[in-house]
Amino acid sequence: MSEARIRTLAEYEAARAHSIADPEGFWAEIASDFQWRKPWTKVLAWDFDGPDVKWFLGGQLNITENCLDRHLAERGDKTAIIWEPNDPKEASVRISFRELHERVCRMANALKRNSVQKGDRVAIYLPMVPELLVSVLACARIGAVHSVVFCGFSAQSLADRINDAQAVAVITSDGMFRGNKEMPVKRVVDEALEQCSSVKRVLVHERVRWAVDMKPGRDAWLHEELKLVDGDCPAEPMDSEDPLFILYTSGSTGKPKGVVHSCGGYMVYTQYSFINVFQPEENDIFWCTADVGWITGHSYMAYGPTLAGATQVMFEGIPTYPDPGRFWQVIDKHGVSIFYTAPTAIRSLMAAGIDHVLPYSLHSLRVLGSVGEPINEEAWHWYRTHIGKGRCPIVDTWWQTETGGILISSLAGITDEKPSHAAWPLPGVQPVLLTAEGKEIAENEVEGLLCMKFPWPSILRTTWGDHDRCRQTYFSSYKGYYFTGDGAKRDAEGRYRIIGRVDDVINVSGHRFGTAEIESAINMAKGVVESAVVGFPHDIKGQGIYAYVVTEKPVDDPEDMRGRIIEAVAAGIGRIAKPDKIQFVSGLPKTRSGKIMRRILRKVAENELGSLGDTSTLLDPAVVEEIKDGRV
Ligand code: WTA
Repeated sequence: MSEARIRTLAEYEAARAHSIADPEGFWAEIASDFQWRKPWTKVLAWDFDGPDVKWFLGGQLNITENCLDRHLAERGDKTAIIWEPNDPKEASVRISFRELHERVCRMANALKRNSVQKGDRVAIYLPMVPELLVSVLACARIGAVHSVVFCGFSAQSLADRINDAQAVAVITSDGMFRGNKEMPVKRVVDEALEQCSSVKRVLVHERVRWAVDMKPGRDAWLHEELKLVDGDCPAEPMDSEDPLFILYTSGSTGKPKGVVHSCGGYMVYTQYSFINVFQPEENDIFWCTADVGWITGHSYMAYGPTLAGATQVMFEGIPTYPDPGRFWQVIDKHGVSIFYTAPTAIRSLMAAGIDHVLPYSLHSLRVLGSVGEPINEEAWHWYRTHIGKGRCPIVDTWWQTETGGILISSLAGITDEKPSHAAWPLPGVQPVLLTAEGKEIAENEVEGLLCMKFPWPSILRTTWGDHDRCRQTYFSSYKGYYFTGDGAKRDAEGRYRIIGRVDDVINVSGHRFGTAEIESAINMAKGVVESAVVGFPHDIKGQGIYAYVVTEKPVDDPEDMRGRIIEAVAAGIGRIAKPDKIQFVSGLPKTRSGKIMRRILRKVAENELGSLGDTSTLLDPAVVEEIKDGRV
C-alpha cells in the first residue's frame, strides 16, 4: 500500500525514534504519499498556549481526491463499501470506488445546486445508509464543513448543534430501521428546525418510505435532486488548515463543544494510523461497527479506509437483531478479516452466550480491534478466544474525538499486546504522565494524568466559534501540554493502560456524556428541583448513569416520576443518555460554599459505603445517611 507502512518491530522502533528526533522530516515523508494540489512550504508551526497548531502550511489538497480519484486507475472496480442492511433478508449492496466517486460527485453537485458553498456548514442527520458516507465525502468535495449528528440524538440536541455551527443545510432521511423498529428521522429534524433560522435547505433520503411533511421551498427529496445533476464534480482545492469538519463532543462543563479538524493533517494521520494499526492488505475486508455519527466512524470509515483504498463493510443494524449472532453472521457472510468494535458490544454479546457464536466459522478474521473505553480482561480474553480463535491479534486503540486518530495502540501482529493495555504510542505521538501538580513522571510502573507534549497532525485545531474554550479545556490545565482528561498507568516496559476519565465525563457504552449536560436535561422534568449525576460500574455498558434527584414535593408515584425524568433526558439529549438508576433524595451533599461533593455520590453509587471519607465540611452531613440508606 504505502511507503509509510511499518512491517516489523525494528521498523516501528526506527519510526518512533525518527519521529521524535525529527518530527518535521518524519511527517513530511509520510505526507508525500498523498496527492497535493500544491506542496506545503512548512511542515509544522505550533504553540500549545494559543493553542495554534498548523501542519503542512501553504499546502493545498482535497481529501476526496485522495479517498477516491487517486484509486480509480488501479482500484476503480474494487469494492469500496459493502453495505449490509438492518434486515438480513434485504440484499446487501456493493459499491465500487468508481461508483462511490460518481455518487459523491453527484451529491456534491446536488449540494451546490442547493446553494451550499465552500465554507458553509452542513448538518448530516442520517442513519447508517451509504448516503451518510456519500454526504460526508460530498461536503468535503466542495469544501463545505460537515457536522454529522448521531441519529440517536434528540431534536433539542440536533437544534443546539445546528445553531452553534449555523448550518445552512441538513441532509436527512424519512425514517430509519433499527432492529425490529422503524423510527422517525425527518420528524425529529422538523422539530429541531423550529428553533433554527440558519437552515435554508433540507435534503431527504427515502429509506423507510414513510409519508413525511415536506416544507415547500425548504425540503426536497434527495433522489429527485440527484437526477437533476451530473456525476462529475471537480474537487475544490483546500488549504491544509481549512476546516474539514466539526464533531460535537461532551465535556465536563456546559453544552457539547464543536471539535474542529482540518484537511491536511487529518488526512495524513487517519491513513497513517489506519494502515499501521490494522495492517490491512489489498484484499482484506475491514469492518468498523461504529456509527459515522461518532469520531470512530469519521476516521475509520469515511476517511481512513477510503484513503487507503480498502474494502469495508457498513452495517445499518444492531448487534442483537434478529439475534445476538448478527455480527458473526455478517463476518462469515462477507469474509470480514479485520473487525473493529467496542468493549460494550463485546460484553453484551458475551452475555448473550456462546451458542450465538458457535454456528459461525469466523475463519476469515485476521485482526481484531477495540475502541471507546477500557476493555476489561474478561471481555478481552473472550474476544481473543471465541472470536479470534486464539490466532488474531487484538489492537486496543486509545484515542479521542479531539485526537482525530488512534494515538496509543499496538500495531497488529507487530508490537506486542497485553490485555486491557492500549500499550504503545504510535510513531509521532509523545505521551507523558503528569502528577496532579503537573510534573512529568519519568519512571515506569507509575500512574498519572495522560498528556501529550508534542502535536501530531490530526490534533484538534479549535472548538467551533469559541477558541478560548479549546484553550481552557485542553491546554490550560498543564502549561505546554495537551491534556486528555484521562488517567493512565505505565507498566514496567512502558506500555500504557488507560484507567478512565478524571473529569466529570461519563463514558456510557463508549459514548461520552458530561454530567452537567445530563443534569440540566433532568432538571427540565416537571417537579424536579435539582439533580446530580455520577457514573457507576456497569457490567455491559462499562459505566452506567446514576442520578440523584431532589423533587419539589415528596414523590408519591416513583414510577411515574422516573418515567418523566427519563422522558426529559430523551428530549434533552436522546435515549442513549437515560439514567440507569434514579434515587430520590431530600437534598444533595454540598459544601458550605454550595459545591456538590460528587466523591460521596460516586462512592454510594459504586456501593462503597464504608469509605466515604471526610464529610465534616458538608452543610448537612445528615443527608449522607439518607442517601446511603436509600441507595438503589
Ligand atoms: C475513552 C472515542 C480506554 C477515553 C475514540 C477517551 C478509551 C474517550 C479507549 C474518548 C481505549 C477511548 N481504552 N479508554 N482503547 N478509547 N477511550 O471522544 O476515556 O468518543 O478519553 O473517542 O474514550 O471518547 P471519544
